[in-house]
Amino acid sequence: MLTRKNIVTIDGPSGSGKSTLSRLIAAKLGYTFLDTGAMYRAVGYKAVQLGVDLDDGEALAKMLENLDLVLAPGDGDTRVLLDGEDISLAIRTAEMGLVASRVSAQGVVRQKLTAMQQSMGEKEAVVAEGRDTGTVVFPAARYKFYLDASAEERARRRSEQLREKGQPVDEKEILAQIIKRDRADSARSLAPLKAAEDAVIIDSSAMTIDEVVAFMFEKVTTS
Ligand code: DC
Repeated sequence: MLTRKNIVTIDGPSGSGKSTLSRLIAAKLGYTFLDTGAMYRAVGYKAVQLGVDLDDGEALAKMLENLDLVLAPGDGDTRVLLDGEDISLAIRTAEMGLVASRVSAQGVVRQKLTAMQQSMGEKEAVVAEGRDTGTVVFPAARYKFYLDASAEERARRRSEQLREKGQPVDEKEILAQIIKRDRADSARSLAPLKAAEDAVIIDSSAMTIDEVVAFMFEKVTTS
């Protein structure tokens, strides 16, 4: 298989810091940040808007025949445009995360978005973030990272985020949810959460964001 030099994939469980790190490393390398989760969220958003059943593969396939979805570079972030409308903020809710998770279990949705992601990777250098980017979307990517952190550390980070937003926090409950979601994510048959065999695994439990970015940058620019 031809190795793709200009593609970096970043994968890992939620709370491992992959979103933040993907954005930072993409900016540092001057690559486009390909936020695959945002694409699943956008498809879910469209389905909700049109009243399409989230578990009905055929109805979703029909809806996808007319999908006008664009990821455009924005102010230090990627803007998500659906039918020309900027939905970047609207898709960042917990509800849209659940909706995205439902539609992402449908093969037709995965096929369509995988093809779109591959076509983006043909055109430009990308940092692709998402659970199947190193295994399914870009198996020939030259640089693959799998970010991990202990469940306790991820629960601590999530609790801190919520505290900063002034929301009530039950850290034990958050930890229980994380453990439950990890199990479900690893066990699902379509695109389960697992590291590509050739991915560099980084445990960020005891590392700062700057340390992880520096480590990745060094790997990509020197190997
Ligand atoms: O990373 P995120 O929270 O924005 O992802 C939203 C949902 O989309 C998540 O529940 C899993 C799904 N997803 C996926 O199945 N495959 C991807 N490559 C990215 C996201």
